Amino acid sequence: MADIISTKNIVKHLSKNHSYTFLVFETINSTNTFAKELAKEGTPHLTVVIADSQTDGRGRLGREFFSPCGTGIYMSIVIDPQKTNLPISLLTVAGGVAVCRAISSVIDERPMIKWVNDIFVNNKKVCGILAESVLKGDNPDSSSIILGIGINVSTPSDIFPGKLSEIAGSVFPKDTNRNIIIAKILTELNNILESSSTENLILEYKDNSLVLGKKISFTQNGKAYSGTSIDINLEGNLIVRLEDDSETILKSGEVSLGSANFSKNDI
Ligand code: BTN
Repeated sequence: MADIISTKNIVKHLSKNHSYTFLVFETINSTNTFAKELAKEGTPHLTVVIADSQTDGRGRLGREFFSPCGTGIYMSIVIDPQKTNLPISLLTVAGGVAVCRAISSVIDERPMIKWVNDIFVNNKKVCGILAESVLKGDNPDSSSIILGIGINVSTPSDIFPGKLSEIAGSVFPKDTNRNIIIAKILTELNNILESSSTENLILEYKDNSLVLGKKISFTQNGKAYSGTSIDINLEGNLIVRLEDDSETILKSGEVSLGSANFSKNDI
């Protein structure tokens, strides 16, 4: 299907009274970097920056996000937390759930969220989310959140560079195109920001969790830990029962599936 990303082709699939403002680029360094600049200058809530490719796509923990042209969705949404019904800490969870709903509607397989916010289909990472906060103007009391979403929609497996090819995959949706998927994500995100209760959002997030009830490992202050993830609380934190039976709450960072001795790298 014709697949040039454009405002016109996205808006066709949004409700008439949507509140999004779009900036679409053929190529950009990073939609998050650009959206951050706009947010500093006070761009409106729900400004969306989208690019067909990124030359400096950024992931969590200082990683690169592979962003080739023609096959992915790279978009950043500026959110004013005061204009939503959710606490700031759950905006990234909201993004993950919105992407899962959108992906579920275009493929038969079930997308699963690896805490915090990597989305997997058939055990391959197809989406990463990078949430960053930025002060509006010089006002220390007023910040915006930039929700950056990167999805491999139809990236052929043989073009992922190096080790990424073992971890990354693509959604490969049928009978749809990137404009429709973008519109679905934005529609779901808006529904969640406007009306979802925290409880319902976390229930849905837990239902889609790839790690809940599984053995996991993680590193904290240079020390490796193993345990079982037993719950996700209303702040989106992961509760882990460690091997010595104590419990710990992870607020950020990254976990791997499997024990510290034998962890499936990056999954
Ligand atoms: C991760 O997997 O660690 C998060 C990846 C986030 C990538 C998206 S692509 C759009 C936006 N712009 C960026 O530079 N990064 C995010």
